Amino acid sequence: MKANELQTPVYIVDESKLIKNLEILQKIEKDTNAHILLAQKAFSMFSVYPLIGKYISGATASGLYEAKLAYEEMGKENHVFSPAYTDSEMVNLCQICDHISFNSLSQLEHHRIVFEKSNVKIGIRINPEFSTQEGHEIYDPCAKGSRLGICKKDLPPHLPKGVTGIHFHTLCEQGAEPLYETVKSVEENFGTYLHEAEWVNLGGGHHITKEGYNIELLEKIIKHLQKTYDLEVYLEPGEAIALDAGYLYTKVLDIVDNTMPILILDASAACHMPDVLEMPYRPPLKDGFMPNEKKYTCRLSSRTCLAGDVIGDYSFEEMPRIDDTLIFEDMAIYSMVKNNTFNGMPLPDIALMHVDGDCEVIRHFDYSDFKNRLS
Ligand SMILES: Cc1ncc(COP(=O)(O)O)c(C=O)c1O
Repeated sequence: MKANELQTPVYIVDESKLIKNLEILQKIEKDTNAHILLAQKAFSMFSVYPLIGKYISGATASGLYEAKLAYEEMGKENHVFSPAYTDSEMVNLCQICDHISFNSLSQLEHHRIVFEKSNVKIGIRINPEFSTQEGHEIYDPCAKGSRLGICKKDLPPHLPKGVTGIHFHTLCEQGAEPLYETVKSVEENFGTYLHEAEWVNLGGGHHITKEGYNIELLEKIIKHLQKTYDLEVYLEPGEAIALDAGYLYTKVLDIVDNTMPILILDASAACHMPDVLEMPYRPPLKDGFMPNEKKYTCRLSSRTCLAGDVIGDYSFEEMPRIDDTLIFEDMAIYSMVKNNTFNGMPLPDIALMHVDGDCEVIRHFDYSDFKNRLS
């Protein structure tokens, strides 16, 4: 089927674009011997895990469910980090993960009796207290009062018994330059631990597949860590894997007027692209321009009852009409993993656009998906 023949709303993941990203990541693995892991929190479309697994080393999880998904559907290196694990989760994780990172010394000691009976490699997440981003405190693990990672003042002089790795995640949609600065700070403040460790995980937030990203600098940083500290280096990007590799196709159901034309779509910011409201950001729209740049400026909104369920104002060369299809871009990441059925909104189907342009609906959702999450 062609993309415009699919029932809307539908997320369509573009296999060619995904492969293009994966080729970039694979080359970094080949150039440096670093291990790149898919951060599933950004993109958990498991039907393409076998494809992703052909290019990169494995996946990382934010907890048991994602770890199980990668174990079942990718079957490669399996890492996990969560601010806290329950006792039963730890038993399960030790059976399916290669690396488990802890967020505190108390969690480390609490679960020691379980992980010591396994072959899992154990890491601790540090908080470098070195912020390189402005404006998005919600996405800054180094923001004041952060619960994420152990601060230098709380660490013992040497790595605790059994800990072989250091994990830090501080970036969000950033280049290699802030990573360079962060690594420099980590070396200054946590150098002893880097010398004692066998591996380091540089977290996610690396916008590696974005045009203009300084891959050469990233490779330099990786090689420096390998050479200076004899470390195995891991990176766990989420966004970079499927950046610009997906669309959300939506239909105009109605047009009302209140100071400007307001398009009512069958897609919702609150339900289908919550980052638009949370981050907040303005998703790219095919053939859509900044307000007033073109002749017709419209507000794009949803059919939920939430007054603020507005995607943004866009201008068009031609006035959109009822039944038109609009295509939001960069909708593979942090979209389907975050969606919900608030207001009883249907979940968009999930489709894959194969390399030859043919679209396959991988998963269709209906009323039962709404009902089964309630009681
Ligand atoms: C610990 C950790 N690793 C990896 C990631 C993936 O980040 P991104 O999708 O920005 O690359 C995140 C994102 O929040 C994270 O918290």
